[in-house]
Amino acid sequence: MNVTFLLNGETVEVNTHPTQTLLDWLRETRGLTGTKEGCNEGDCGACSVMITDERGARSLNACILFVPQLHGKAVRTVEGIAAPDGTLHAVQQAMVDNHGSQCGFCTPGFVVSMATAHLNGRTDHDDVLAGNLCRCTGYAPIIRAAKAVEGAAVPDHVIDHPIAPKTTDFPAPETSDALAEWYAAHPNGTLIAGATDVGLWVTKHFTDLGDVAFLNRCKDLQQIDDQGDTLRIGAGVTMTDVLAAVRILHPSFGDMIRRYGSDQVRNAATIGGNIANGSPIGDNPPALIAMGATLHLRRGDTRRDTPIEDFFIAYGKQDRQPGEFVEAVTIPKSAPALRCYKLSKRFDQDISAVCGCFKITVADGKITDARIAFGGMAGTPKRAPLSEAALVGRPWSFDTIQTAAATLAEDFAPLSDMRASTAYRMDAAQGQLRRYFDDINCIETDVLGVTA
Ligand SMILES: Cc1cc2nc3c(=O)[nH]c(=O)nc-3n(C[C@H](O)[C@H](O)[C@H](O)COP(=O)(O)OP(=O)(O)OC[C@H]3O[C@@H](n4cnc5c(N)ncnc54)[C@H](O)[C@@H]3O)c2cc1C
Ligand code: FES
Ligand code: FES
Repeated sequence: MNVTFLLNGETVEVNTHPTQTLLDWLRETRGLTGTKEGCNEGDCGACSVMITDERGARSLNACILFVPQLHGKAVRTVEGIAAPDGTLHAVQQAMVDNHGSQCGFCTPGFVVSMATAHLNGRTDHDDVLAGNLCRCTGYAPIIRAAKAVEGAAVPDHVIDHPIAPKTTDFPAPETSDALAEWYAAHPNGTLIAGATDVGLWVTKHFTDLGDVAFLNRCKDLQQIDDQGDTLRIGAGVTMTDVLAAVRILHPSFGDMIRRYGSDQVRNAATIGGNIANGSPIGDNPPALIAMGATLHLRRGDTRRDTPIEDFFIAYGKQDRQPGEFVEAVTIPKSAPALRCYKLSKRFDQDISAVCGCFKITVADGKITDARIAFGGMAGTPKRAPLSEAALVGRPWSFDTIQTAAATLAEDFAPLSDMRASTAYRMDAAQGQLRRYFDDINCIETDVLGVTA
């Protein structure tokens, strides 16, 4: 497999295997050991690199990024952040001036994330740096450093221009037609989209993936089409781009996505991968179910649509045939009563213990429709049919909500695991339904709204 990309401004041609990670390649083949290995699973940001393509520069975790995903792109590591003459980049100097580094292990990752954010003019430092973990500094000096360089000039040498896309000698379809053809011919092959799940199969489980196809060159899967009352979101749209598209339309869903992984994870993870993996604790599915989204599946030339809740059959089992892939998902543009509540042990960069999404329609004081979906409460993302039935036709009152909350115990029998116990999950789910009532009645329920 031959892959060509820019590395710190120089063109490199690499002969590699499909699941060679960028982190290993940089450290073992190029001696670029500034990019650190902390967790090797996308959690700590020590391996952050700046990747530039036609969509601009973004930071990604090199530990779960496969070298073939870089074809035609530009990679900048921490070694390429200072100027060629050794002059520190403004963010590096600010880290020195503000004592932003102690043991220093996390520092290269922070510097790359900060330089990428600086290049993009971002000042939402908490969000930008939520995926970079530091054990020593307490973060305040790092945030001070990031603030200190707001508005400073971007040095020319960090502005990369991706090289002209070249054809590949490995499966990286450029259209969904080509993907459909490849997958029909390799129905047991593995699709690799953002690799935020698949990367871990390789780095943690040493899985041999067999035949693989990379989806990140498939442009028509990366489109968001405004269809009037609905948005059709291609399976290859990253969570960063989903967030940008839904932030205004569905603020509560947007708030949840802002806590999905980290900037580096959202820059890689696709909505299609998050649906296709069928995880019971994925954040998109409960929100999409509550919204009444439609999933678009394709196998060869055959396409079919399904309400998204029907896609999740049982733990590890989805309504997807060999050779069939997720092409897109369609959501309504208007859902003012939609609320999404993610409960996790850590506010940022953590998987949900319980994720409750609600859309209850009220007319003349009566509930006319209810859609309630939870992640983390069953082996799949799942609706709450009995609780919904306990709501519809009843008055919009706290008593009605209390009855429906009690009924959740008939809809779900959640597991105990390292994230939460059975009792905690049930309690939390019932609390989220009560929170929904307050939230819709304009009583402040957002933890970010609570100030000292
Ligand atoms: C550090 C970290 C934090 C995370 N935080 C969260 C979080 O907060 N919330 C959350 O929900 N998830 C989280 N995840 C999980 C992960 O980001 C998601 O599941 C992600 O959306 C998967 O998308 P991907 O594009 O990376 O998929 P990949 O890893 O490329 O693929 C995942 C699976 O989907 C299949 N697939 C991909 N695209 C398609 C398609 N179009 N059609 C059919 N099959 C397809 C692949 O073959 C594979 O089986 C986190 C992951 C990491 C590493
Ligand atoms: S090594 Fe921790 S995110 Fe890559
Ligand atoms: S300075 Fe030690 S981990 Fe951040």
